[in-house]
Amino acid sequence: MTAVRVAVTGASGQVAYSIFPRIAAGEMFGKDVEVDIRLVDIPPMIEKTKGVMMELEDGAYPLLAGLSATSDRMIGFKDADWVLLVGSRPRGPGMERNDLIGANGPIFVDDGKAIAAVAAPGVRVAVVGNPCNTNCLIARAAAGPKVPDDRWSAMTRLDQNRARSLLAAKTGARVRDVKKLVIWGNHSSTLLPEFGNATVGGKPATAAAEKGWLEGDFVKEVQGRGAAIIAARGVSSAFSAAQAVVDHVKSLLTPTPADDWFSAAVVSDGSYGVPKGLVSSFPLRSTGNGGYEIVQGVALDAFAKGKLDATVAELQKERDVVKDLL
Ligand code: LMR
Repeated sequence: MTAVRVAVTGASGQVAYSIFPRIAAGEMFGKDVEVDIRLVDIPPMIEKTKGVMMELEDGAYPLLAGLSATSDRMIGFKDADWVLLVGSRPRGPGMERNDLIGANGPIFVDDGKAIAAVAAPGVRVAVVGNPCNTNCLIARAAAGPKVPDDRWSAMTRLDQNRARSLLAAKTGARVRDVKKLVIWGNHSSTLLPEFGNATVGGKPATAAAEKGWLEGDFVKEVQGRGAAIIAARGVSSAFSAAQAVVDHVKSLLTPTPADDWFSAAVVSDGSYGVPKGLVSSFPLRSTGNGGYEIVQGVALDAFAKGKLDATVAELQKERDVVKDLL
């Protein structure tokens, strides 16, 4: 079997730095799957990626079949099976993620065009750089019809992981006992960690934790966790974001257990009234090969519906802001 070719932008950055050893060790694509890792970054940063390459070489990873670095997307994305779009300016203290649209939007136009031009016919793309939903929308539009809607996703897995950890801590459970707790909408301070369908140890989350806490502090804490980390560290999350990228790709590549869902932002097909074409997070089930289905028939109560409307309204506003890039 040929190696999985995976290109990662923002290769000299902190999130990528935490992703690379995981990919090389087989944690993303499997312990028996060889990988060809392409580090992609902008010209001023490309020198720094040499150090990252040296560390990857020094890891002597048995699965590492190829390794290269370039500031030219047309080289880095060539025949790529997966493209992880991490490269973008991160937010600082006091900023919302969508304050970055102006700085980051154009990057994703170039990413999308290069993916359509040279990536493998079956390429899958995961957008991590913020605001990731709208950056994914931009890249997807720039790529055109050659790369179908279902190949594109943006990462809300960090929020899902945060939500599951928080609910587990509150209820005295283990994270692995929390199921079907997924994120709807935008990776932003309007996101909905939907607890009405979640279970803890097989029982409804609403029986394990107080409704007032779930609707109040729980939602607020998950929505504000990225900002809280920036306030505490002075810089944004890095290894937890990398963990979420690994989980995101693995969830798409692994059949979803019968008692669970996972979340990622994907191109809406109109499900749950989310306008077609918006990149919004949904409950998903993997088909086991990188593909997914949006879980249908999930009951949302009035609280969840109100929050979903708000986060979708924000996504529509972001789309209006970038309409010249679409
Ligand atoms: C996060 O959620 O930690 C990242 O998206 C970084 C940020 O800006 O919050």
